[in-house]
Amino acid sequence: MTSQIRDLSDDEARAALPLKWGMTEPGVIPAWVAEMDYALAEPVVAAVQEAVGRGTLGYPRFELGGGELGRAYAGFAARHLGHEVDPAQVVPTVDVTAGVRLALDVLGPDRSPMVLPLPAYAPQLGLAEVTGRQQWDLPVTPDGDAYVLDLDHLDRLFADGARTLLLTNPHNPCGHVHTRAELEGIRDLAVKHGARVISDEIHAPLVLPGADHVPYLTLDGAGAHAVAVVAASKAFNTAGLRCAQVVTADPATHQRLTQVPMARNDSWSPLGVVAAVAAYRDGDAWLAALVQRLTELRALLAGLLAEHLPEARMRPLEATYLAWLDLRAYGHADPAAVALRGGVRVAAGHDYQPGLTGHVRLNIATSAERLTEIVRRMGSALAGAA
Ligand SMILES: Cc1ncc(COP(=O)(O)O)c(C=O)c1O
Repeated sequence: MTSQIRDLSDDEARAALPLKWGMTEPGVIPAWVAEMDYALAEPVVAAVQEAVGRGTLGYPRFELGGGELGRAYAGFAARHLGHEVDPAQVVPTVDVTAGVRLALDVLGPDRSPMVLPLPAYAPQLGLAEVTGRQQWDLPVTPDGDAYVLDLDHLDRLFADGARTLLLTNPHNPCGHVHTRAELEGIRDLAVKHGARVISDEIHAPLVLPGADHVPYLTLDGAGAHAVAVVAASKAFNTAGLRCAQVVTADPATHQRLTQVPMARNDSWSPLGVVAAVAAYRDGDAWLAALVQRLTELRALLAGLLAEHLPEARMRPLEATYLAWLDLRAYGHADPAAVALRGGVRVAAGHDYQPGLTGHVRLNIATSAERLTEIVRRMGSALAGAA
């Protein structure tokens, strides 16, 4: 591996990642929750250490747009995503899930159903219920190599009364990056039916060579019906610091989001802001090294699967470090449980789509040595187990 990303030792990873490593039995390699086994970016560590040294542990500035955070995100979006963002329209929130919830609550007070493409990032499965609306599923076929959103189905769901689509782009767990044409198809339906799109773009910094991320808000006409929810925390491994951003491209939508009672959105952390500003402003070199490392691991994974799990099918990993594996050929309803018995903790497919059998999500953001051992163990567990 050529990149300057530093692998954590097992002991370091256990200290750094209390959920991913701390809730995995000793001897089992964790490859489940979306965190990376790498040392943090130096500019982020330095900024957070300096902030702690200064005692910056009071409430963050209650700045619903603009400020250092807005400017830092706007700079990042311009450099990396080709998106000209108005810093004043970057609203902090505690995390991406809370940002989506806020957008659902505020922009969809009519409680109309929410469309959720499945499989979906597991916490999204509870979002409709906690915001008092129905979830209408838009299943993406588990067969086939390409990830294709069924726009005719979406058209019917909107026609039947759904008024919000929760889009995840790039997609977790499928690793897909929506093309401009796909997004324009979604945009046209949203406009036709007067629906909204909430676009979870937390994985946008993690697009790998071969794909291009198109921010939904850059589409003509999207600003009037859409918001994006973004964060530095996934690409920079700082989920525990609690700061995401809701981005708008329409002053009226921004105003609706920010004129809510304080109880709806007041709990992001000052250290999260410090980390996000440092990541967005000073993290480019580290991020480039990370993307290079993940690209190398993607190639390594392809070889490992061919060797140890030749019957596995995998949609192309266009972004993220989360590989979605179709392991139905091995005949196990719950291959994650079988893998766990074989010494690897991966995420079960049914966590992303209730009832789905034979699939797992594999987190490849670790060392080449661990990834090699992970796939080797999965191969012997799945191919060898009854
Ligand atoms: C698509 C997606 N959205 C949101 C999140 C979680 O973000 P947060 O911890 O900011 O809620 C994740 C985490 O992996 C994710 O994959």
